[in-house]
Amino acid sequence: MREISNLNQLRSEDTSNIAFVPTMGALHAGHAKLIEKAREISPHVLVSAFINPLQFNDPKDLEEYPRNPGSDALVAERSGATILWRPEVAEIYPGQVESISAGSLGNLFEGASRPGHFDGMLTVVNRLFSLIHPGWALFGEKDFQQLFLVRQMARGQHEGVEIVSVPTVRADDGLALSSRNVRLSDEDRRAALVIYRALFNASKGLSLKEMQEQLDKTLRQEPRFTCDYSAIIDEEYFTLATERSIAKRALVAGSVSGVRLIDNMPLGNRGN
Ligand code: PAJ
Repeated sequence: MREISNLNQLRSEDTSNIAFVPTMGALHAGHAKLIEKAREISPHVLVSAFINPLQFNDPKDLEEYPRNPGSDALVAERSGATILWRPEVAEIYPGQVESISAGSLGNLFEGASRPGHFDGMLTVVNRLFSLIHPGWALFGEKDFQQLFLVRQMARGQHEGVEIVSVPTVRADDGLALSSRNVRLSDEDRRAALVIYRALFNASKGLSLKEMQEQLDKTLRQEPRFTCDYSAIIDEEYFTLATERSIAKRALVAGSVSGVRLIDNMPLGNRGN
């Protein structure tokens, strides 16, 4: 694996054979899965590690975002990355760059609590795609609204980039892996498990009403969990699901001891 700090060091003109995994560093087994999957697609796997200031609405969150460059290189290499790119802010944002709006969906669910987050996220992903022009880009289902918005943008503006999604990687106890989990104490972590229990219970519901009831009832059982939203969406449109929705998915977001946690799970009998 080669480490580069600037894309000029890439040396290759044809990037259409690159499978690209954008990250903000602090790599864990969830990121590793994306990199492994990328390596199955192409022998050229580029991982970027860039903490994008534009997508943090809370300066404290940006300041406290975990940074672990030493272990990032190990995880990336072991998972099959061929290039690890850690750009400087000046390379990504040299003066004026095109801002991308997430539209009305950018203000819903995750976007309602994090104003500007999805605009900032799309702006950096658009910029990364424009700089690299990869053949594929891999994103986790863990951030399902992000995945939906990236797909939508790529359809309109980056037709040459195939978006590949990877199911959420969980710890043995069910907690979705996240860079922010390192901020949880053992006790916080036990409380955070209510999210997985709620999603799991909802997935056993036979009707939409039952699914929503199971979701909310389970979440209420953990007083240390502060719920931000819990909803069942229609995956195709990212609107609230109806009984007629073909693919339904439960979304949960909230916090334990001030640490923001999000997760989701497909519902109904869909073979997953
Ligand atoms: P980051 O949070 O570092 O995540 C990078 C990628 O890893 C995203 O596609 C995310 O969905 C995926 N991921 C994180 N945890 C996962 C898990 N437990 N299972 C599967 N995939 C997981 O998401 C971002 O960075 C940024 O918004 C970014 C897209 C890099 C733009 O700045």
